[in-house]
Amino acid sequence: MIGELDADGVVEYFRGKSILITGSTGFLGKGLCAMLVEKMLRVQHDVKKLFLLVRANDVESSKQRVQTEVTGREVFQVLKEKHGNGFEDFMEEKVCTLTGDIMYEDLGLGNAKLTEISTEIDIIVNGAATTNFYERYDVAFDANVLGAKHICEFAKMCTKLKMLLHVSTAYVAGEQEGILLEKPFLMGETLREGAQLDIESELNLIKETMRELKANCSSERTEKRTMKELGLKRAREFGWPNTYVFTKAMGEMLLGHLRGDLPVVIVRPSIITSILKEPLPGWIEGIRTIDSFIIGYAKQVLSFFLVDLDSIMDVIPGDMVVNAMMVAMAAHSEEQAQTIYHVTSSLCNPAPYAVLADSVHRYFLHNPPRSGKNGEPVRLSRMRFFRTVPMFRAYMSIKYKLPLEILRLVNIALCGVLSRRYKELSRKYSYVMHLVEFYAPYTLFKGCFDDMNTERLRMAMKNNEKDKSRGYDFGFDPMSIDWDDYFYRIHIPGVVKYLND
Ligand SMILES: NC(=O)c1ccc[n+]([C@@H]2O[C@H](COP(=O)([O-])OP(=O)(O)OC[C@H]3O[C@@H](n4cnc5c(N)ncnc54)[C@H](OP(=O)(O)O)[C@@H]3O)[C@@H](O)[C@H]2O)c1
Repeated sequence: MIGELDADGVVEYFRGKSILITGSTGFLGKGLCAMLVEKMLRVQHDVKKLFLLVRANDVESSKQRVQTEVTGREVFQVLKEKHGNGFEDFMEEKVCTLTGDIMYEDLGLGNAKLTEISTEIDIIVNGAATTNFYERYDVAFDANVLGAKHICEFAKMCTKLKMLLHVSTAYVAGEQEGILLEKPFLMGETLREGAQLDIESELNLIKETMRELKANCSSERTEKRTMKELGLKRAREFGWPNTYVFTKAMGEMLLGHLRGDLPVVIVRPSIITSILKEPLPGWIEGIRTIDSFIIGYAKQVLSFFLVDLDSIMDVIPGDMVVNAMMVAMAAHSEEQAQTIYHVTSSLCNPAPYAVLADSVHRYFLHNPPRSGKNGEPVRLSRMRFFRTVPMFRAYMSIKYKLPLEILRLVNIALCGVLSRRYKELSRKYSYVMHLVEFYAPYTLFKGCFDDMNTERLRMAMKNNEKDKSRGYDFGFDPMSIDWDDYFYRIHIPGVVKYLND
């Protein structure tokens, strides 16, 4: 049962608190934790300290990373304006950089430092992860599985910890269809009937494979390819579509298993998109899934796409995820339970892919992308969509695979004079097929994320008009979004701006 909350209460909750946050750096993903850092500092001037755990070779480089990749991001603009010349001093006072890595038991901090901060931390937010679908198995396992374990073990050491919030993903559900509940994973649970997962054995398999690769003096390239393929093979063996979501699911399992009576909240967002409201509508970094579609269209390098326009794309603006995280922290503080939140939109306000496709087409029709020396408007042609993998494969075979096969034979007949061209086109073809294979579980997704827990959290939040007038809002209700307007007016211009920066 969640007690009644309001925005003032949420803001007050963070007063005097010290929070350890992992995963706030980097420009490849969506910068979710950078948004969280910004919001915490903006709404609660009197937060005690934000400890940002950052990977780097030394203290100087980690501080540098925070300056360029966290507080130096455009998303901090409003906060910078608020503090004016005092911004640097405020940051110096509130932000403490820790040079570390969650793949290590001591989080790469050393035992002395770990013990020292264990008496100071009130809240831990574990946002660090490897988000690449086709990551090396060892790398993904280290960050997403062992990382979650090490963070949980550290959390248990913290003498005044109020809660651990772990960021997972709604797609730990794999490719399941129908209504998908906010349910924890049991240890060893899989998505394939009859299969049983043993996380310890997976770790041993990784170690054994690495030992063999080293014993055979394999090149770095072979090692990388072998480990990437191993991750994918193991993921599929147990019913997950890729290494990322498989390892995120194992991370959740370990957390649930090891937490004891530690208060844990697992937030599972779907696909994170640009900021809807504050501090900077349209702000986004890193292009993934739907954004590569927008960019491909803007550049007119994508003439076809594998997507079922009637299926629901589950997207959620980054600021809503941050709001839900902050409200959940305040709501579940010191509660000796584990709660899971789907921060998703497919149940309460479904957005079919057709809405995005239409907004993209309209946006670029009204704002034609320009290219070339003189900035000529690009001629736009409508994209072609395939709603099933066989339809897509058939098209690819006729349009590209067959001509490629002819080119191969001609090349043989001409004693290899066209080898370079053939190799280049083959590589492009494989790349497209590879991309499609990875995105298909999302563009053809048939599941719908139930968000009953999140709805309860929303219901617990009283109307926060007063706080909105002070400039902050803790809304995370996707019902309030008009998807067409959001894509057209906020998200697509945000992606275009990111592309041009
Ligand atoms: N992006 C989405 O659409 C989405 C959707 C659902 C859930 N999520 C989840 O949300 C979280 C944040 O996602 P994001 O897209 O914002 O991520 P991101 O930008 O890719 O950032 C990942 C962060 O994790 C850090 N990290 C990775 N391995 C680490 C390690 N071993 N030790 C310490 N730090 C490590 C990275 O550090 P470096 O900068 O050093 O690499 C980076 O700061 C993740 O947990 C992800 O699974 C994301």
